[in-house]
Amino acid sequence: MLTPVEFRDAHVRILDQRRLPQEEVWLKIGSVEELSRAIETLSVRGAPAIGIAAAYGCALAARQAGAVGPARALAAVRAAAERLARTRPTAVNLFWALERMRKRAEQIAAAGGDLAMDLLREAEQIHAEDRAACEEIGRRGAELLPQEGGVLTHCNAGALATGGFGTALGVIRAAVAAGKRIHVYADETRPLLQGARLTAWELLQDGIPVTLICDNMAAHLMRLGRIQACVVGADRIARNGDTANKIGTYGVAVLARHHNIPILVAAPWSTVDMALPDGSRIPIEERDGQEVRSFQGSMCAPPAVPVVNPAFDVTPASLIQAIVTERGVARAPDLAGDLQRLSAKNLDNPGGIS
Ligand code: MRU
Repeated sequence: MLTPVEFRDAHVRILDQRRLPQEEVWLKIGSVEELSRAIETLSVRGAPAIGIAAAYGCALAARQAGAVGPARALAAVRAAAERLARTRPTAVNLFWALERMRKRAEQIAAAGGDLAMDLLREAEQIHAEDRAACEEIGRRGAELLPQEGGVLTHCNAGALATGGFGTALGVIRAAVAAGKRIHVYADETRPLLQGARLTAWELLQDGIPVTLICDNMAAHLMRLGRIQACVVGADRIARNGDTANKIGTYGVAVLARHHNIPILVAAPWSTVDMALPDGSRIPIEERDGQEVRSFQGSMCAPPAVPVVNPAFDVTPASLIQAIVTERGVARAPDLAGDLQRLSAKNLDNPGGIS
């Protein structure tokens, strides 16, 4: 199964998503600084994939500092986590993974364990759990898609954005595998074209029918009756169900509501931030204006024109029909109540909301 990140030969290896679909180039990353730059420049991107890459970065730091003794190795892991935490502010999976790695490092150090080896195991575990979560999300979400019809997705919430399989694309993959006749409409997703470059590439590889549209075509297609459902990923979900995802998702949700089309959010539980009461507190990353003034490296606007470039927006819970996680599905009209119940779910004895 396609995975965008792995740890091999003492390096973090990343499929460079800036160069897709033109070429498939794997970056061999040997330092936390290099990895941080790879996250900042979107060589690796997508909320769960960023978390996984950062976890491998902590393991890399422990390995490199291992020779100088356990205390220095633990300090190196803490420093790595601090640097990685400064890369991108919106996706909570990054902070979730770093916190898990930091705590595990402290446990290992206190027990006199092998920090380098055990932290690598922990990062691999985070990776494996995310892949399994995506498959479960796919299974649960597929049931919510119609037997046939058009499904709109925005950005890329596929294998490239996760440990493998994908969240929104995982739902689509599972629905197609279950025999549903789904035709995907992929928003191109300006400014960085994750939909055009990555979602279209992934779905073509799988042989899933996909049509690429410019972002401003969605309303027209909805009015023509060609879209029966929307499914998107998430970067952070507040406890009331407000959801941050790629800029433009909010617009899609408003259009979907106007046309009476359901919108599903698919995300692993590591994307849910129960500490935040609502979406107003989600930090929105603001990126370099050159991304808007240019298109695939060529200038398409006067260099001096002011721009805003928020990388994400927040879709209010009131516009979302369901949030599909591996723990279960939170459904309107009580997304907040369902998220609360899922949060309290005993994972060793799962049951309750499905
Ligand atoms: O800026 P990006 O490409 O990292 O943004 C990615 C998204 O917004 C995805 O939809 C989200 O991270 C979910 S990925 C499973």
